[in-house]
Amino acid sequence: MYVFLTGFMFWLSLTVFCLGVIVRTFLYWKGLSWSLDRVAYRAYPLAGFQGALNSVWKWLLPFGTQGWRKQPLMTVFFFGFHIGAIAVPLFLLAHNLILQEKLGFSLATLDQSAADVLTWIVLICALFLVLRRIALPEVRILTTWYDYLILALAVAPFLTGLLARYELGGSSFWLPAHILSGEILLMAIPFTKLSHAFLFFASRAQLGMDYGIKRGGLKGTKMAW
Ligand code: HEM
Ligand code: HEM
Repeated sequence: MYVFLTGFMFWLSLTVFCLGVIVRTFLYWKGLSWSLDRVAYRAYPLAGFQGALNSVWKWLLPFGTQGWRKQPLMTVFFFGFHIGAIAVPLFLLAHNLILQEKLGFSLATLDQSAADVLTWIVLICALFLVLRRIALPEVRILTTWYDYLILALAVAPFLTGLLARYELGGSSFWLPAHILSGEILLMAIPFTKLSHAFLFFASRAQLGMDYGIKRGGLKGTKMAW
């Protein structure tokens, strides 16, 4: 099972992930239409570019936007979840050993206890993200089983990774379970709303352009919108 998961399945999941990211980014780009979106993409490129950068940057900063400031608890859980969700898979020593072996390169690595703490934070914050969906009526009304499925898919590699790490119940079960759940997540990212991990930058940039040009950005100039 381990050989299958770290052999065929590893390559399959990585290929599906990379091709999926490329295809969905290309389709997003191709689908842009200034007349339908009512965003002046080409007319004022510099103002648009500045607006795009500003929007992406502010949303990546904790409490950087009105939206984040209005919901401080959500902001804490959101960043607690996302910092670990991005840093642990990329910089975990065990992952980088596999990267080195399979692809011939590796990234910087996290200290093992830092990885443990970040993983615990991911799990705790995910629990609060679920409770938020149940507790707040304005979020509950928008929530379907699909949102819980996405949360479960995202959390599974963190839970199983930690169980494998502590060797609870024997790592011969949890390690393969972990690798499989990680590979399922990788393949799900491009085709579910988890695609926000890369399309976030596209849609934020697009909205940022709109704000940078039409919605106030060029106020007081002779722009004819
Ligand atoms: C692509 C296939 C993957 C492989 C082959 C893999 C492999 C591993 C290995 C060998 C460990 C160490 C377990 C131990 O110490 O016994 C581990 C731990 C872990 N992995 Fe993965 N993994 C994969 C995907 C992922 C993904 C996609 C995520 C998250 C999105 C993830 C998150 C974690 C976490 C949170 C840990 C435990 C961290 C800690 O030590 O506290 N892994 N993984
Ligand atoms: C640079 C990469 C990423 C960015 C910029 C990003 C950004 C976001 C944003 C803006 C939201 C919406 C928050 C809201 O409801 O207001 C969100 C939600 C979410 N993200 Fe990410 N994300 C990234 C990567 C990831 C990754 C790698 C995972 C999974 C391992 C992930 C899992 C989730 C989940 C499960 C939710 C839904 C939370 C809920 O149900 O409340 N994200 N993300």
